Amino acid sequence: MTKLYLAPMEGLTYVEYRQAYHRCFPDFDQYFTPFAAPGRFHVSDFSTREKRDIDLESNAGMHLAVQLLTKDPDSCASLIRELASAGYEEVNINLGCPSPTVTAKGRGAGMLKDADALDAFLEDVFMETEGTDIRISAKTRVGYESAQELPALMEVFNRYPLSQLIVHPRTGKQGYDGKPDLDAFAYAASCSRCPVVYNGDIRTVGDFRKLKERFPDVQAVMIGRGVLANPWLPESLRAAEAGVPWEAPGEEEKKAQLRRLHDLVFSNYLEAFDCRNGVVDRMKELWGWMGQALPGHEKELKAIRKARRLPDYRAAVRVLLS
Ligand SMILES: Cc1cc2nc3c(=O)[nH]c(=O)nc-3n(C[C@H](O)[C@H](O)[C@H](O)COP(=O)(O)O)c2cc1C
Repeated sequence: MTKLYLAPMEGLTYVEYRQAYHRCFPDFDQYFTPFAAPGRFHVSDFSTREKRDIDLESNAGMHLAVQLLTKDPDSCASLIRELASAGYEEVNINLGCPSPTVTAKGRGAGMLKDADALDAFLEDVFMETEGTDIRISAKTRVGYESAQELPALMEVFNRYPLSQLIVHPRTGKQGYDGKPDLDAFAYAASCSRCPVVYNGDIRTVGDFRKLKERFPDVQAVMIGRGVLANPWLPESLRAAEAGVPWEAPGEEEKKAQLRRLHDLVFSNYLEAFDCRNGVVDRMKELWGWMGQALPGHEKELKAIRKARRLPDYRAAVRVLLS
């Protein structure tokens, strides 16, 4: 069975969402925190949000990789050692964030601009963490400017004992535009020494089937936006792969399940945040995706988008999900 991972998405898949999702739809094999730690040396220097996001108790029962965004090998290694001694299973190095504010500082996908510098970074990180009991993986694009950079990058990746390489086959420059470059993914999959995980634009059973037809050996797929918009996606992929018939829930059942997911995420956020209007903003961001699960309810979704205060938000959600 192909393993399924929830993609890290800043602002969306924090522990408040992951925990709630895992309770309602326990189909993911692994979860990844959105990136943490630009410029920090110690876990104790993490922001309150980052500390809460990686808290072991709150993430209990889920296989978790903590994602780090840094170009400084010493801070990366220091955090890896601390996370290992605290009992974390995996650290994931972000080599894919396309945001210009991140790449301009040479972080995220910006690290792909210079294969030699990436090599030196990984050499230091692996040297300084040798003998540490934690898996180190990476999540990458297929180049910064173009996929022609991929062969040099794969040579670098293959020099180090990465536990897995998650490949989102767009370039850093592309951001989220255009289509995933499946030929570039094929190249990465054909020459990687470590297991390669596919990520990008898996929205339907059809997308998944097409991917598996071309890449039957891919053992894991990471999914982000497709799950936010359709929380039943992993369940339907599992059924499709097992050859078991699967029917999407009807409208009433859908609303009941969405209500359960919503209420858990919402109460997690209320517990985590002092600012109630901040909770409303976070929930509205989530509805930007989750609302796609209820086509034909644009009017009710608009009322949610317009809600500013908690009581208005609650009332708008009640109307949508009743
Ligand atoms: C709002 C948003 C925030 C994201 N934050 C992160 C992040 O913190 N770390 C990361 O590696 N990727 C991040 N990504 C990229 C996703 O993990 C994923 O690679 C991308 O969305 C493609 O997969 P999908 O088509 O299944 O969504 C983010 C994407 C979005 C849309």
